[in-house]
Amino acid sequence: MSVTESDVLGALSAIEDPDLHRDIVSLGFVQKPEINDGAVNVRIVLTTPACPVRDKIETEARDLLLALPGVREATVTMEASVPQHRGGQQHPVEGVRNIIAVASNKGGVGKSTVSTNLAVALASLGARVGLLDADITGPNIPTMMGIGQGAQAEGPGGLRVEERHGVKVCSIGFVLPRGTPVVWRGPMIGTAVRHLLHDISWGELDYLLIDLPPGTSDAAMSMAQEAPISGVVVVSTPQDVALEDAAKAVSMFDKLNVPIFGLVENMSYFVCPHCGDRTEIFGHGGARQAAEDLGLEFLGELPLDPETRKGGDEGTPIVVSAPESPQARAFIDVAKQVAARCSVLEYAAGA
Ligand SMILES: Nc1ncnc2c1ncn2[C@@H]1O[C@H](COP(=O)(O)OP(=O)(O)O)[C@@H](O)[C@H]1O
Ligand SMILES: [Mg+2]
Repeated sequence: MSVTESDVLGALSAIEDPDLHRDIVSLGFVQKPEINDGAVNVRIVLTTPACPVRDKIETEARDLLLALPGVREATVTMEASVPQHRGGQQHPVEGVRNIIAVASNKGGVGKSTVSTNLAVALASLGARVGLLDADITGPNIPTMMGIGQGAQAEGPGGLRVEERHGVKVCSIGFVLPRGTPVVWRGPMIGTAVRHLLHDISWGELDYLLIDLPPGTSDAAMSMAQEAPISGVVVVSTPQDVALEDAAKAVSMFDKLNVPIFGLVENMSYFVCPHCGDRTEIFGHGGARQAAEDLGLEFLGELPLDPETRKGGDEGTPIVVSAPESPQARAFIDVAKQVAARCSVLEYAAGA
């Protein structure tokens, strides 16, 4: 008995996408199978290369196909095509499918560290990624990505992105005169951000991450208004997540009609490099609780780790220098959660 296309699709429809709560066949992820004398070739196209269950789906698909009568060989190829964000009124950024903003209630909680590591993590998973440093209060993405001072003078050809660690980078620091005071008013900042978004050739990107200024100031507001943001990742340290702080950020983004992907807890715990013992320095789990209370997703927790700090200071993010370390794996897991939230919201908007 020879296997048919409908046998193949029927078998694969047993696989459910855990985030979209539908089977991968009715979602349209499974391309027309090639069947050749008992050898089945299937391409599965997911909505992100950073899908947290990519490997699981691949294994399940292969097992299901091999269990079909008449199948002697099964090849499953996993691919991804990131959907274009259906934005609001803001002008879309040419070539950019999704803008992900990284925000925090205050400075120093690790927003830039999280932005850089998420960006390189998404790139390492196969996504096309850009990183825009919009933090007027401390534009330190260039340092954290290893882009030296003066690498980016605005010449006659205008501003360019610098490519580092597989990520395209640009910073508001490149367009501000040195020593510009933070008292810049919203509209001026809006103009600078518009310039960075629209007058630069970012090329084709699946995700453009924006490191926003901390807090719910004018500056943060005008940033968020300039860009057609798919969603926001809020970074917090455990002790910083007094509920009212997180709630303030949530209500600001709500007002601007910008969805929040969820909360990340940074400097969540410390693992002793000598004995491996885990210490909850700030008391752990504050962000998870805050997320729950606010009805938001909890995207994961990142350890307080000297190597992570060193990576930032030296311009080589930990996800690049030690991708297999537990700390880097924690960032990669958060990156997958963020990509999954992005896909889910796009599906919700389109369905
Ligand atoms: N998980 C972490 N472990 C160790 N140090 C961290 C971690 N996250 C951030 N840091 C350090 O804390 C400082 C502030 O982080 P940064 O990313 O600049 O915060 P923000 O952008 O919110 O101001 C930096 O020196 C950074 O290297
Ligand atoms: Mg910063």
